[in-house]
Amino acid sequence: MSKEAQTSVPIHELVANRWSPRAFTGETMPVASLKRVLEAARWAPSCFNEQPWRFIVATNDDEAAFARALGCLNESNQRWAKKASALLFTAAKKTFARDGKPNRYALHDLGLAVENLVLQALADGWHAHQMAGIDAGAVRERYAVPEDFETLTAIALGKLADPATLPEPLREREQKPRERLPLSDIAFAGRFGDTWTPRDP
Ligand SMILES: Cc1cc2nc3c(=O)[nH]c(=O)nc-3n(C[C@H](O)[C@H](O)[C@H](O)COP(=O)(O)O)c2cc1C
Repeated sequence: MSKEAQTSVPIHELVANRWSPRAFTGETMPVASLKRVLEAARWAPSCFNEQPWRFIVATNDDEAAFARALGCLNESNQRWAKKASALLFTAAKKTFARDGKPNRYALHDLGLAVENLVLQALADGWHAHQMAGIDAGAVRERYAVPEDFETLTAIALGKLADPATLPEPLREREQKPRERLPLSDIAFAGRFGDTWTPRDP
């Protein structure tokens, strides 16, 4: 199934074709594929090259480790994420290594690393679904995440399955078209809220 974005102008096919499915096959993700997505995350840009991102990885070929990770998701996410091939948790270092000062760009930079990961996954035939619906406290406790790191999200990685494998209402949701705000609502010029209206050359 494709859920290609309906864009106002043509964009890169990887960006247009990324979406967040819930129907996964449950097949094992080869270590090499997992390494590639983490390597892509590693090469994201970051403020002062701090690289504040960290990832905790659990794969479904290790049942106990996967169940431990799945248990950190909220119930509605567990319902579909149990068929993912891998579950990742994200964390960001809240202070700069260089001077110990708060890094207010840490979450920004983590997001950049995650998008690298997500797009690399897609380029390699895997899909990613990010989740805020986790028990961040449980992640911190189970994986001994240090105080200086914020535990933020989970990412399910897997191979796309038929939406028919999902229970309702997830099945219907899976097939809905993807929507976004129009460009005019997000790109401003002169004053915040004033739509950027470039003249075509
Ligand atoms: C930070 C973040 C948290 C999200 N949390 C959840 C979640 O807990 N459960 C879920 O099913 N989807 C979650 N999503 C997926 C979004 O709902 C989805 O990205 C959005 O609706 C746009 O759809 P698309 O990714 O298919 O374009 C999350 C996405 C992001 C980026």
